[in-house]
Amino acid sequence: MDFYEVIRTRRSIRSYKPDPIPEDVLTRVLEAARIAPSGSNRQPWKFIVVKNEELKRKLAVACYGQMFIGEAPIVIVACGYNIHWNRGEYMGDLSMLVDVSIAFTHLILAARAEGLGTCWIGSFSNEKVKEILGIPKDVNVVAITPLGYPRDEDFGEPGPRKPLSEIVSIDKF
Ligand SMILES: Cc1cc2nc3c(=O)[nH]c(=O)nc-3n(C[C@H](O)[C@H](O)[C@H](O)COP(=O)(O)O)c2cc1C
Repeated sequence: MDFYEVIRTRRSIRSYKPDPIPEDVLTRVLEAARIAPSGSNRQPWKFIVVKNEELKRKLAVACYGQMFIGEAPIVIVACGYNIHWNRGEYMGDLSMLVDVSIAFTHLILAARAEGLGTCWIGSFSNEKVKEILGIPKDVNVVAITPLGYPRDEDFGEPGPRKPLSEIVSIDKF
């Protein structure tokens, strides 16, 4: 699939078929995250692939009851290591949020290219997700997504977006 078609047709999917994801497809999607760029190439991430039904259900509850998350055959939890060293004042401790978000975007777009649906989930209890998955103290959850084949195979068009004239300016703000 052409790159621009991938980004144009990706959308948040909130209903999934239970069909399993072939291992080679899953590997390609994870590989897309692995090769993402990061500040100083620190790669401060870890992706937890959750397949266990009970854990998926608990995660959906920890995402404030967004139960569609547990419908997908896989839930991916993207974690970031807290970075405490000086990186030339590049956002300090928060820089891992940028790095993990870039890798997660790679993953989500690769999923679309494979015909898989995702939904970036930012509404969750960090503490509860950490407890469910045994995530260590110096690591935080950045994003979660269900991963699976959409019930409605027509990905369609993304929702409305602001026009370029509103979001781009030349030379000054
Ligand atoms: C940082 C972030 C957090 C989000 N959190 C949630 C969420 O908790 N639950 C949900 O259903 N969608 C969530 N979304 C999806 C957005 O609602 C969605 O991307 C937006 O409405 C645009 O729709 P589209 O993805 O279909 O183009 C989140 C998206 C982002 C980027």
